[in-house]
Amino acid sequence: MKALRLFLAGCAALVSLGASCSADPLQTGTEKPTTEQKGDEQGQAGSGVPEKPESNGSKTLLVWYSFTGNSTAIAKALRAHASVDALEIKPAEEGLDYAANNYAIGSSLISAIRKNPSSAASYPAIKEVEVSFDDYDTVIVVTPLWWSQMAAPMQSFLFKYGGKMAGKTIGLVVTSSSSGISGVEQDAKRLVPQGSFLSESLWIRSAQVGSAAELTAAWYDKMFPGNNENASMKVTITAGGKSFTAEIEDSETGKAFMGKLPLTLEMTELNGNEKYCYGVSLPRNDKHYDQIEAGDLMLYSGDCIVLFYGSAGGYNYTRIGKVADVTGLANALGNGSVNVKFEKQ
Ligand SMILES: Cc1cc2nc3c(=O)[nH]c(=O)nc-3n(C[C@H](O)[C@H](O)[C@H](O)COP(=O)(O)O)c2cc1C
Repeated sequence: MKALRLFLAGCAALVSLGASCSADPLQTGTEKPTTEQKGDEQGQAGSGVPEKPESNGSKTLLVWYSFTGNSTAIAKALRAHASVDALEIKPAEEGLDYAANNYAIGSSLISAIRKNPSSAASYPAIKEVEVSFDDYDTVIVVTPLWWSQMAAPMQSFLFKYGGKMAGKTIGLVVTSSSSGISGVEQDAKRLVPQGSFLSESLWIRSAQVGSAAELTAAWYDKMFPGNNENASMKVTITAGGKSFTAEIEDSETGKAFMGKLPLTLEMTELNGNEKYCYGVSLPRNDKHYDQIEAGDLMLYSGDCIVLFYGSAGGYNYTRIGKVADVTGLANALGNGSVNVKFEKQ
């Protein structure tokens, strides 16, 4: 059974990402990173060998850069709400006015990166930082937008350390006057190619910074419900036109799963008792299960979501959660591959 699933997973990876297992477009964490995506020219990721996730720790690091103070206010609001360690990024050259002369300096920094994003020389120097990435499983990046891109000093930080964030959950909070933040999201994914990005970034316009406390709290509680005692750990699973409720474990794995929702997976049939989908990396804490029951939602090998609709046993899994009432689950999942949507309640 296990060998068959591994073989099928290999096939899925060979065919193309998402061919047998697709997820919502913003869910980059659901794709298996390739060596090519790692950006070998980046200082930290030059070996060409895929790095293993380094998420031994369970803390959150908030990293911010601010030129005119908005990101600092946002970072402060987040720190007041959530238990995070914080790190400010500062340009090596002090006192530069990036907005002077119609944003001349900011503009030239961004064009240098656009011209040659894989060269370290394109990124402005920042002050040295001391951070032990092993302590963190989550990094929240708070940054301004410059010319529809991530502000240059934050790009410098991620260029240097993005490789150390492989496998970590990455949250993005962006402030701009009015421009949309998709370019900043793309920068983040280019600079942290193996990050497991949250399903939603938070965009705070300059005019909204006064409401940073409410906006950041609502976003944080939605993205990290396990860190908020009042938040629900229930998800709705929809397949074949029917919906079921699953209780998600109050564990590192369960919380990371909640952080990836909503998620739609094309799940593959196996053995008449389970549907599975590779490509969703979550923290792993496997144990041997002699008996698996219908409704068990499990993580196999750290990146395979398995939903059982019949009993099984004898393999190592990390439990993600359990469907409370499995009446009609087998019928809804059907005999073959099926699209299954997981969303928060
Ligand atoms: C060099 C530079 C370029 C900017 N480009 C844009 C832009 O293209 N679109 C926009 O809406 N805001 C732009 N802004 C405004 C900032 O994104 C916005 O004021 C943000 O809230 C500033 O955050 P901070 O106070 O943390 O620096 C730019 C600001 C600077 C300094």
